[in-house]
Amino acid sequence: MKSFIRLIPLTILSLFFLISTTIAANSSKLTDVYTYANYDQVVTTHLYLDLNIDFGSMSLAGFAELSLKWLDTNSTEVVLDTRDLVINKILAQNSAGQWQQVSFNLAEHDDVLGAKLTIKTLPNTDKLRIYYHSTPQASGLQWLSPEQTAGKEKPFLFSQNQAIHARSWIPIQDTPSVRVTYTARIITNKDLLVVMSANNEPNTERDGDYFFSMPQAVPAYLIAIAVGDLHFKAMSHQTGVYAEKYILDAAVAEFDDSQAMIDTAEKMYGKYRWGRYDLLILPPSFPFGGMENPRLSFITPTVIAGDKSLVNLIAHELAHSWSGNLVTNETWRDLWLNEGFTSYVENRIMEAVFGKDRAIMEQALDVQGLTTEIIELAPGDTQLYIDLKGRDPDHAFSSVPYTKGQLFLIYLENKFGRERFDAFVLDYFDHHVFKSIGTTKFLKYLKANLTHKYPNIVSDEVLHEWIYKQGLPRYVPKPISTAFSTIDNETLAWLNDETKFSQLLTSDWTLHEWLYFINNLPLNINIDKMTILDNKFDLTHSKNAEITHAWYLLSIRVGYDAIYPAMFKYLMTIGRRKLIVPLYKELADTKEGKAWALNVYIKARLGYHSLARGTIDAILNK
Ligand code: BES
Ligand code: ZN
Repeated sequence: MKSFIRLIPLTILSLFFLISTTIAANSSKLTDVYTYANYDQVVTTHLYLDLNIDFGSMSLAGFAELSLKWLDTNSTEVVLDTRDLVINKILAQNSAGQWQQVSFNLAEHDDVLGAKLTIKTLPNTDKLRIYYHSTPQASGLQWLSPEQTAGKEKPFLFSQNQAIHARSWIPIQDTPSVRVTYTARIITNKDLLVVMSANNEPNTERDGDYFFSMPQAVPAYLIAIAVGDLHFKAMSHQTGVYAEKYILDAAVAEFDDSQAMIDTAEKMYGKYRWGRYDLLILPPSFPFGGMENPRLSFITPTVIAGDKSLVNLIAHELAHSWSGNLVTNETWRDLWLNEGFTSYVENRIMEAVFGKDRAIMEQALDVQGLTTEIIELAPGDTQLYIDLKGRDPDHAFSSVPYTKGQLFLIYLENKFGRERFDAFVLDYFDHHVFKSIGTTKFLKYLKANLTHKYPNIVSDEVLHEWIYKQGLPRYVPKPISTAFSTIDNETLAWLNDETKFSQLLTSDWTLHEWLYFINNLPLNINIDKMTILDNKFDLTHSKNAEITHAWYLLSIRVGYDAIYPAMFKYLMTIGRRKLIVPLYKELADTKEGKAWALNVYIKARLGYHSLARGTIDAILNK
């Protein structure tokens, strides 16, 4: 063999190696099938947005300037993601600083991926300027008219980029494998305040002309913007709330443990690396509970319950400052690395700030939710490393990456003990700061730094089962709350008429106990008992959106009709998917229910975010 190699001229040999290593590098890098970007050849390092927000035409217009780093110096093509964008012209700047117009091709629209934008660049192109505007149907933006806001006088706009909606308002390499720092100049109506996932300055002059800078590199799904009649109130030196006036004080009172949450998380998982941590309270149509936009989590108003009972949402979005924002899933198949770790860290923060009992109750409720959801999910959707099969990642959303991911980490914590496991998680974050990581690489890291480091505790087969197999392993941890066991006993006695209603010890119940109680009432409960409960506690009009959600769901199932007028109002005002989708689903199961739901939906649909519309359209076959 040696002598044969000697016969080949050195140049040919080295060329062969060069080509084969480049091919290997390329093919191993392009793991994200949800982007058109040729990010194996060129990556964007910085983004400058120069945009005008026009509420009249529901459009963002201006240009995006992309600073490029070429990995393949022979390439002269930049491929970007877009969806429903109108591209006017593109300029390229070479290393000598000269700008020149270049040609581009915008391909046909694909329902999942949008339209591929291919730009022919010049050799040594350092920067591209894409002049464009977004259109009213942008899937990543929701435009609200003044009437749709609480104040009723000024309009509101917010973005929701995760998973692949950044491309509907920015032409960009829309993959969690590419990170950019960004700056932006945003112009809008003089009386509105603009905020971004960047350096917001509460005391900035409200003049409709704002400048932002984000020095930490983030993937496209974490670029965020919101505009409205926003006001700011500080909660601590590092935290504060942006909200419309009607809810600002309530939000500050509800979330004033945010600083304690940061301090706790820092002790366990290392420095918070993003500077400020503020919250933005969105209108009720926000389709999620929260979104971890860096420095500025976006939060639904439906968690402002008046008693801090739903603040695990803040712990969750804050936890993403480590898992997700700092260490990022490489593709949307690896979402469990973001959400599983975050659910785990969230619960650890809750335990540290609010105590073990509450943390266990939250675990137990989530596990119940997961167990019922798994029964309904396609088996392939119950594995952590999910097979998206080319579907829109939004359509494969479930509690599996969250709660099964969290249970996997609790399992490891139980096996190795907190001390070792916490040290592992801290190191995992530190080793991957501002990087993306996929499931395979994670598994390798996990073996090297935990399961092989302390051998004979957890086998490779067990890790494999957790990550790649369907359903829940038989050795899944089972969080047990003694408070819930007490409720089980009391409820059973009451349902069997062994004890009186007044003996239910509800006066001390927390939200979690109420939720457990309602979620576990049997479907053959008689309507008299439902009426007694409602008369005493007015569950139909509870101020807590999670309670009403659970109560409405049960009521639809058992045929308790007194809820309908209140549920109508609920569905008309709230657009958070988690709270409304299960209700529409349940209603759609019967003919009368579906007719009622359709009637509500016709009126409510206009106020819902396009993500919620997509899901509910499918349920009601609209
Ligand atoms: N990042 C998610 C929201 C998300 C996930 C948007 C996937 C698009 C695709 C956010 O952090 C989240 O998980 N929100 C939850 C919070 C809850 C688990 C406490 C929500 O909105 O309900
Ligand atoms: Zn999350």
